[in-house]
Amino acid sequence: MGKAAKITKITTHVLQEMKLKGIKIAMLTAYDYSMARIIDSANIDIMLVGDSASNVMSGHKTTLPITLNDMIYHASSVMRCSPRALVVVDLPFGTYQGDSKEALISAIRIMKESGANAVKLEGGKEILESVDRILTAGIPVMGHLGLTPQSIHKFGTYIVRATEEHEAKKLIEDAKLLEKAGCFALILEKIPAELGAKVTKELKIPVIGIGAGGGVDGQVLVLHDMLGITQEFSPRFLRRYNNLHEEIRGSVISYIKDVKAQDFPNKREQY
Ligand code: KIV
Repeated sequence: MGKAAKITKITTHVLQEMKLKGIKIAMLTAYDYSMARIIDSANIDIMLVGDSASNVMSGHKTTLPITLNDMIYHASSVMRCSPRALVVVDLPFGTYQGDSKEALISAIRIMKESGANAVKLEGGKEILESVDRILTAGIPVMGHLGLTPQSIHKFGTYIVRATEEHEAKKLIEDAKLLEKAGCFALILEKIPAELGAKVTKELKIPVIGIGAGGGVDGQVLVLHDMLGITQEFSPRFLRRYNNLHEEIRGSVISYIKDVKAQDFPNKREQY
């Protein structure tokens, strides 16, 4: 074993080093204190307070309804576990697309009120002014290209993106623009593996994929999907590491049975 110092906090610089050294980056979503505490203790590199909270925490069909206040609430809860991981927070739909001043105000609120480490925005050229303005304030920005769930109503479907040559060309151009602007990393969602590998080779910043193949610098999954808490969502890229839906349901059934049978509490479980 070398004498490398133990990393107590993952920073954007650490992630850049990981790319240079070919060390893969592991990222998961987190929306609350208890789960964040567990996954941070397992040494995850990045926790994403994703706007997927709109789906998995609030039961909405899309990510569009979640508000800036909701995101700050989730991010603050995650930050209370004093994470070792870098914590990135999604700017929700409607808080950065139209006006770069509003984008900056939204990003500042997230950083100031939650204590998170970075923000993530969906899109390329169209949102570059917002990205630039946020970066000017010293806030690290992660980009997100490919399938961008906040634009679901424009596309009408969650199918694989950038399969056509002109879409792939735009994605590569957008990725380079985001890197040039100063983004510290990029998410690529649901695109052909070959394209994911090509972008990763052409960029100096870390590229993290969700359904973008194995040729990227790291992977991200939605925590509730990989733990099997959600069941209805089964894209090809999703590997389930547990079936917590059944485990939790089974525990609740046992609890109900014990209460009804007056088996709980027993003598040792009361004062
Ligand atoms: O909101 C989210 O969970 C995300 C990931 C799918 C990358 O943006």
